[in-house]
Amino acid sequence: MRIGLIGAGRIGTFHAATLSRHREVGGSLIVTDADTARAHRLADRLGATAAPSVNEIFTWGVDAVVITAATSAHGELIGRAARSGLPVFCEKPIAVDLPGTLAALAEVDAAGTILQLGFQRRFDVGYTAAREAVRSGRLGRLHTVRAMTSDQAPPPVDYLPLSGGLYRDCLVHDFDMLRWITGHEIVEVYATGADAGPAMFREAGDIDTAAAVLTLDDGTLATTTATRVNGAGYDVRMELAGELDQIAVGLDDRTPIASTEPAGPPPADKPWMGFLERFGPAYEAELAAFVEVVLGERANPCDGREALEALRIAEACVLSRRERRPVRLAEIPGARD
Ligand SMILES: NC(=O)c1ccc[n+]([C@@H]2O[C@H](COP(=O)([O-])OP(=O)(O)OC[C@H]3O[C@@H](n4cnc5c(N)ncnc54)[C@H](O)[C@@H]3O)[C@@H](O)[C@H]2O)c1
Repeated sequence: MRIGLIGAGRIGTFHAATLSRHREVGGSLIVTDADTARAHRLADRLGATAAPSVNEIFTWGVDAVVITAATSAHGELIGRAARSGLPVFCEKPIAVDLPGTLAALAEVDAAGTILQLGFQRRFDVGYTAAREAVRSGRLGRLHTVRAMTSDQAPPPVDYLPLSGGLYRDCLVHDFDMLRWITGHEIVEVYATGADAGPAMFREAGDIDTAAAVLTLDDGTLATTTATRVNGAGYDVRMELAGELDQIAVGLDDRTPIASTEPAGPPPADKPWMGFLERFGPAYEAELAAFVEVVLGERANPCDGREALEALRIAEACVLSRRERRPVRLAEIPGARD
């Protein structure tokens, strides 16, 4: 399968390596980037082909497109692929804002093409087991969910202005997991954020830390927090508490947190430090799934409508923080019919 990958940055490099090892793709991979030299370096390392620009991805007769460029470029590239009739895997989120998201989805709908979004936690062993536990009824009625995403260190400074900000870029993963695990929709959010950390966040008009309280349509309450500055390590967890039992995702011998109890577990020897090591197997599995989707061997595990719902929750958080009030999801355009 000839796949054209657009964006040879942090995640693009990882996805390109995964694809170049895939038996269906291998040496047929084509990579490109706005920074041509970067695309060449990556292609040379993997034995792939570097395209001189994005245009060639749409003229060299590829079978599918993988978009790993900056978020600000996603909407236009999804539209272009849709108009070319090509299946797309695109990193989250669909676009930096709601109008861009709805426009991209309209193009995909009009073309009738495939769009799979990169919510890799849907392929993570721990999150998958949590979904099964909740859906089986083992926890009883779920009353509380606590989700968190803590980056060990901030992303590169030039990443921020193109990212959509902390809710859309980072917490969007937790919003997707809340829906995917519980099977319920969020109906209201109350969000706040802080920019008291490194100046680069203030200067980009972003925040470095955020918290939100979310109400699900069955009355379950959830909290989510995110930070870009968690020196102890990369900490992505979710606790789900029901009337019968409670479980934790992301709690293992690499969780970067120290217990203050004399009989507590010892601190992790090798705490998780970043998303690529923590979610490596999940990233590989989501791309393997994409190849199967393109081949018609399986259903799309995360289509545009799913990603839109996660983005609408992020939009509600942005509005809630700005107006300092609870926001009903019904206020955010783009709801399903
Ligand atoms: N699923 C995840 O856990 C996860 C993790 C990291 C990043 N991401 C997503 O992946 C995307 C890329 O993130 P990153 O961390 O790799 O960023 P990055 O800044 O490391 O890389 C982005 C690359 O895109 C290129 N680029 C920008 N605009 C382009 C355009 N119009 N055409 C071609 N190339 C273009 C840049 O030159 C750069 O090489 C973002 O949308 C981000 O949200 C997802």
